[in-house]
Amino acid sequence: MATLTLPKNSRITGQGQAYKADGAARSRTFRIYRWNPDSGENPRYDTFELDLDQTGPMVLDALIKIKNEIDPTLTFRRSCREGICGSCSMNINGKNGLACTTAIEDLKGEVRITPLPHMEVIKDLVPDFTHFYAQYASIRPWLQTVSTEPSGKERLQSPEQRAKLDGLYECILCACCSTSCPSYWWNSDKFLGPAILLQAYRWLADSRDEMTGERLDELEDPFRLYRCHTIMNCANVCPKGLSPAKAIAEIKKMAAERA
Ligand code: SF4
Ligand code: SF4
Ligand code: FES
Repeated sequence: MATLTLPKNSRITGQGQAYKADGAARSRTFRIYRWNPDSGENPRYDTFELDLDQTGPMVLDALIKIKNEIDPTLTFRRSCREGICGSCSMNINGKNGLACTTAIEDLKGEVRITPLPHMEVIKDLVPDFTHFYAQYASIRPWLQTVSTEPSGKERLQSPEQRAKLDGLYECILCACCSTSCPSYWWNSDKFLGPAILLQAYRWLADSRDEMTGERLDELEDPFRLYRCHTIMNCANVCPKGLSPAKAIAEIKKMAAERA
């Protein structure tokens, strides 16, 4: 059920610390959401001015520089640094995206960084993905078959069948789409949201999967699938250029065609 008022301890109060990049010819200020559950304090913004001539080109480079050289307590997720692992998703100047593929130069003015919206925060820029991953597990994201193949025999696909997975298999489960979807904000307890529905369609579209009927049965529910109102925020923010809204429309089409 949606919560319409913020709990008291989630309000951002006051200014945090401010760091200056003295003498920098080219500088940029990063305003970063900070919250430490162990401190008992409300969240705050810290500001860090960085010398751009001493900082790598991406937002993740700025975060790593701050953590390495100014404040080692700054907490965020990252791994691959090239848009593959999905772990550095966050909200940058009001838009969800990957810190490692967002160039500082492409952002205007002060750069404001907050965790992905409408998720519980574990610390600073790290949201809690427990519910998101449980929803992912619920769609059984693996190949399910009933027929048996002689041992060692591959389940083959034609090039056309394989092509149906393009635009789906590239999803890195960063949750940028789901956390920018208003329907997911208000109904994430029951609505699966764009990322998980795109994954659900990835298996419905796989010619080798033999559980299509069961998968559609699971999705046919007023909340799990049908809370999507084609607002399209999901497709607008996906850092991999995918369209969860289109995948959702395909699932609805499959459900309607078998009715
Ligand atoms: S198209 Fe559907 S899933 Fe995508 S943002 Fe809109 S309501 Fe959410
Ligand atoms: S569809 Fe795009 S935005 Fe959504 S989880 Fe997958 S990669 Fe991220
Ligand atoms: S660090 Fe892996 S996607 Fe950004």
